[in-house]
Amino acid sequence: MVEPSRHPFLQGLSKHRGAPPTILVIFGASGDLCARKLVPAIFNLAVDNLLSPDFYLIGFGRKPIPDNDFRAETAKDIKQFSRRPLMDDVWARVQANTFYIPGSYDDVNAFKTLGGKIDAIEKQLGRDLQCVFYISTPPNVFKPVLENLGVSGLARRHAGTPLASKMIIEKPFGRDLASAQDLNRIIRNQFEESQVYRIDHYLGKETVQDLLVLRFANTIFEPIWNRRYVDCVQITVAEDLGVGERAGYYDQSGALRDMIQNHTMQLLSLVAMEPPVSLSAEDIRDEKVKLLKGIQPANLKAEGGDVVRAQYTEGLIQGQKVPGYMQEAGVPADSITETYAAVRLSIENWRWQGVPFYLRSGKRLARRVSEIAVQFKRPAGILFADHERFNLAANTLVIQIQPDEGTTLLMNSKVPGLETRTQPVKMHFRYATTFGSNTPEAYERLILDCIVSDSTLFIRGDETETSWRLYTPILDFWQEGGKRGLENYAAGSWGPLAGDRLLWDQHHEWRRAGP
Ligand code: BG6
Repeated sequence: MVEPSRHPFLQGLSKHRGAPPTILVIFGASGDLCARKLVPAIFNLAVDNLLSPDFYLIGFGRKPIPDNDFRAETAKDIKQFSRRPLMDDVWARVQANTFYIPGSYDDVNAFKTLGGKIDAIEKQLGRDLQCVFYISTPPNVFKPVLENLGVSGLARRHAGTPLASKMIIEKPFGRDLASAQDLNRIIRNQFEESQVYRIDHYLGKETVQDLLVLRFANTIFEPIWNRRYVDCVQITVAEDLGVGERAGYYDQSGALRDMIQNHTMQLLSLVAMEPPVSLSAEDIRDEKVKLLKGIQPANLKAEGGDVVRAQYTEGLIQGQKVPGYMQEAGVPADSITETYAAVRLSIENWRWQGVPFYLRSGKRLARRVSEIAVQFKRPAGILFADHERFNLAANTLVIQIQPDEGTTLLMNSKVPGLETRTQPVKMHFRYATTFGSNTPEAYERLILDCIVSDSTLFIRGDETETSWRLYTPILDFWQEGGKRGLENYAAGSWGPLAGDRLLWDQHHEWRRAGP
């Protein structure tokens, strides 16, 4: 019998009452992610009274910033990026416990200074605290940060007790299988797996968590969630933004590394995995890994294979002319980085054999929308076979991850009137209508889960490696091919024709993504 209190996932916020006293150290505190996401998330947790009164925030970064300036910066970040307006009294309490340590990531002395600060806080408070080290630096310094957490002894603070240090690491988790394995090795030299929280912020999104509820807390879906009833599954993570000021990072990454290998694969895992035996982190993550192991290596051919890549060219987004990828500031003249990737995957297991899973993601597509569409087989065409009168669509369950979060069921209905005609219609459930629109941001959930030691929504080491095992051959194939097979698409479109062909080959077509 599973002890429910030990498996708090999905059991509501009551689990967070009594969040333990914590020192959250953010490496990369002068960076964009800290300003846009982490500080606003901490503020919103404070507003909801979900942090311990003994919660401390320490920023660590290369820039020398006095404590007071850092405190003032955090208030500005909240004003600019938080989903709720700054509440001075709430934030003043956190600000009083906020500090900043300047230092270089490869300088162990800076880590010792950090350790000294942590010891001083504990001494002043007269009790031990857990430390959460959040590594939100550029990936080229992951290694020195991890090593210095080890050498300075910070990784082993209160080891073997419930207050043992924890570590959150941001993406990208490696750039291929070898580098991910390398990173895991470095991490394991300093931390036990139970102390490690690898982030994929898609798992913190409400709609993504709701996938488990939709599948396993409803009777009607699970019996038809298999190859007998499902024709194909389409996962779209589309953005209308371009690379903006991130070309330096993006050009080294591309759509496959930036979105497909992580975010879309998380969606795929949750939609396709077998029911876990419980909602514990390990049981859920075991099922995800099992699912990933059943995915077949992609068929790699420049034409007619399972993968498509492309770059956007100049086009129109909401009526505004925007430049092509090659014209964006900071993109090298010989770049072969894909801004769009689409993949056709097959899962060789009992449930999914023969059902294609199509994944696509891109920048500068027609609109920002992330969704999973489970398309069911067509009804037997005996009774409504006359295509002139009976316009039958395949039943499709669309889980809209963002924006306009919700679920839509596409079905066929009789058009009112004396003549019998049919028409596809939609049944909608919208979060905003039912629950209101001010839902927590992914980072709120994830930071809190780490504080209370729930790793369900984080990626396990073997999971990330299993996913890289699938994608590394594709990246190698593209790298070797140079520009061969690199398609173009106009900004504001739905991607290259080759992306459509990927589905036509199997007599499918992309749904027009959106509600
Ligand atoms: C990040 C990618 O992980 O996810 C970005 O690096 C992308 O390129 C972002 O824009 C998308 O996140 P969201 O939550 O806006 O869908």
